[in-house]
Amino acid sequence: MKMSSFLHQRPLHNVLTDPYESSSPKSSQNHQRPIITFLFNRTSLFLFLTLLIVFGILSPSIRTPLQGLVFFNNNSNDKVFETKWAGYTLAEATSFVAKNRTLIVCAVSEPYLPFLNNWLISISRQKHHAKVLVIAEDYATLFKVNRKWPGHAVLIPPALDSQSAHKFGSQGFFNFTSRRPRHLLQILELGYNVMYNDVDMVWLADPFPYLQGEHDVYFTDDMAAVKPLNHSHDLPPPGKKGRTYICSCMIYLRPTDGAKLVMKKWTEELQAQPWSKAKKANDQPAFNWALNKTAGQVDLYLLSQAAFPTGGLYFKNPTWVKETKGMHVIIHNNYITGFEKKIKRFKEYGLWLVDDYASESPLGRL
Ligand SMILES: *[C@@H]1O[C@H](CO)[C@@H](O)[C@H](O)[C@H]1NC(C)=O
Ligand SMILES: *[C@@H]1O[C@H](CO)[C@@H](O)[C@H](O)[C@H]1NC(C)=O
Ligand SMILES: *[C@@H]1O[C@H](CO)[C@@H](O)[C@H](O)[C@H]1NC(C)=O
Ligand SMILES: *[C@@H]1O[C@H](CO)[C@@H](O)[C@H](O)[C@H]1NC(C)=O
Ligand SMILES: *[C@@H]1O[C@H](CO)[C@@H](O)[C@H](O)[C@H]1NC(C)=O
Repeated sequence: MKMSSFLHQRPLHNVLTDPYESSSPKSSQNHQRPIITFLFNRTSLFLFLTLLIVFGILSPSIRTPLQGLVFFNNNSNDKVFETKWAGYTLAEATSFVAKNRTLIVCAVSEPYLPFLNNWLISISRQKHHAKVLVIAEDYATLFKVNRKWPGHAVLIPPALDSQSAHKFGSQGFFNFTSRRPRHLLQILELGYNVMYNDVDMVWLADPFPYLQGEHDVYFTDDMAAVKPLNHSHDLPPPGKKGRTYICSCMIYLRPTDGAKLVMKKWTEELQAQPWSKAKKANDQPAFNWALNKTAGQVDLYLLSQAAFPTGGLYFKNPTWVKETKGMHVIIHNNYITGFEKKIKRFKEYGLWLVDDYASESPLGRL
């Protein structure tokens, strides 16, 4: 009981002292007390109930699911909190979180929260967590993150149905990942540099020193074939399917016309080849076609394989891992599907940090 009230109070306190709050017209701790006083007066109560009924009958469409029972809820603090964060915009969130016009973003639905926390711990160790913005794909994620870490989660409507969104290869998963280029384009239009990461990643070192030069788009190869350490930083030649196998899991973009063009093309490619039961597509082929079609107009940069290996290499080629010891920067737990399998593999490699080091995450223990 004590613990839960502590957990409840702490984030509220944070909300009320965070810098975003002072400039927010929506926030209103003050609303609570007048409502309570108002309710104690019988005449007011009668008027109030009448109004509620009239309002409920005459304009049911105005009541969103969030606002629906706001006055009947016995914990109006929750509703004030939720209403506030539901209205938090991407422009507000980016300006609050960005450091040096740069952001690190991920897109997460509720089932992925343990991976989000694992990833965050590894970023905290590199002291880059302050510029992490979580794009919440459902309201549960938006509220959970902002309760623990006010201002660091934003929801770009509409929210997805989190039950259907997390199965790799499903239409829900495709819908979920299809939103990625649009989110990134919006952030570029607001003028920020942005690093996108999947949350089944772990940072072992600081990736920023590897983002050399002033290129438009930086990415990693998802091919497991070993390359020489001094491999070219150009877009690799197409593979068997006529396209490259660049990973859509880790992308760094500068707010240039070239980077925006790639995001627009990626969205178009996703629309041109929508999900089908037979193909069980994810968003990665469309990203590769977008790179293929814009390559002549955009300054692309392939990051070092030794620093940013695909899971198909890091988890499957121990000889290569030994040879490149000390060079690895971000590890991606791909080339495997399923939450349980991913967690098991992270544990085997000492990369599942949430059990022992949750206190290092800005979210604490979830
Ligand atoms: C409101 O009170 C009822 C009865 O005490 C309880 O079951 C319910 O969970 C409470 N709702 C909230 C949102 O606290
Ligand atoms: C800020 O960003 C610029 C360019 O994006 C970079 O050159 C510079 O090193 C960054 N400064 C810090 C303190 O990170
Ligand atoms: C995915 O998006 C399509 C097109 O917008 C929609 O018809 C479909 O219901 C969505 N499916 C899921 C599972 O979210
Ligand atoms: C990499 O190094 C090898 C051997 O030193 C050299 O022959 C090759 O041209 C280099 N490749 C690139 C892309 O620099
Ligand atoms: C784009 O794809 C086509 C078809 O596979 C290929 O012939 C061409 O070389 C690719 N272009 C680039 C820049 O990779």
